[in-house]
Amino acid sequence: MRTPVIAGNWKMYKTIAEALDYVEGFRAKEADGVETVLCGPYLTLPALVEAAKDSAVGIGAQNMHWEKEGAFTGEISPAMLQEAGIPYVIVGHSERRALFGETDEAVRNKVKAALTHDLIPILCVGETIEEREAERTQEVVRTQVVEAVRGLSSTKMTRVIVAYEPVWAIGTGRSATADDAQNVIAFVRRTLADQFDQQVANQVRILYGGSVKPANIDALLEKDDIDGALVGGASLDPESFSQLVDAAV
Ligand code: G3H
Repeated sequence: MRTPVIAGNWKMYKTIAEALDYVEGFRAKEADGVETVLCGPYLTLPALVEAAKDSAVGIGAQNMHWEKEGAFTGEISPAMLQEAGIPYVIVGHSERRALFGETDEAVRNKVKAALTHDLIPILCVGETIEEREAERTQEVVRTQVVEAVRGLSSTKMTRVIVAYEPVWAIGTGRSATADDAQNVIAFVRRTLADQFDQQVANQVRILYGGSVKPANIDALLEKDDIDGALVGGASLDPESFSQLVDAAV
């Protein structure tokens, strides 16, 4: 059985003081049987690691470079995240792909580097509205998945968390229906079975992301292949995020 994951992506929201206030108000800390992850801006991460150290909440970064060190102004390395005790990192979020030119090759390098440094990558994939309307969803998602995990061993693949986030559903209030999300996520699982084998595919957690909120989480989690959620807006409020975690218990 796959342990569900509820991961919050704060994006570029919250100062250190706001992050610490949030953790105080987060009552689902000890939720059993759910992996809870909070991905804050870099500057909040050491404070979050310290504040969450006696709880079941895992802390994650939202991005990283793939090199261990080097002349890459403005970047953070996997070794730096590992040293800071940060176990998760989001890789290939559509905002990074669209706004910062992140390519499939960069995403693959990041997935590989994260695993080499014992970090758990949360690999994001998803189609734009134009791609969906052109009925290219499966082709786009398949390419993103295959390119990102190419060359991984089966053991490493089972540590990756995949998040299917249709770009048109992010921050729009318009979530995919639970049926649509299930269909694409089942397709991602079949893609992993083709690339590795069915046993590996059965172990990988695949999340849905895009306007997830307390009102739609139950329908999503009822689906066989949906193992949790990657949440933006609704993760900014500790009460809403606690409700999402409770729904997955
Ligand atoms: O990483 C999270 C996603 O971009 C979803 O954001 O829940 O605000 O739609 P959202």
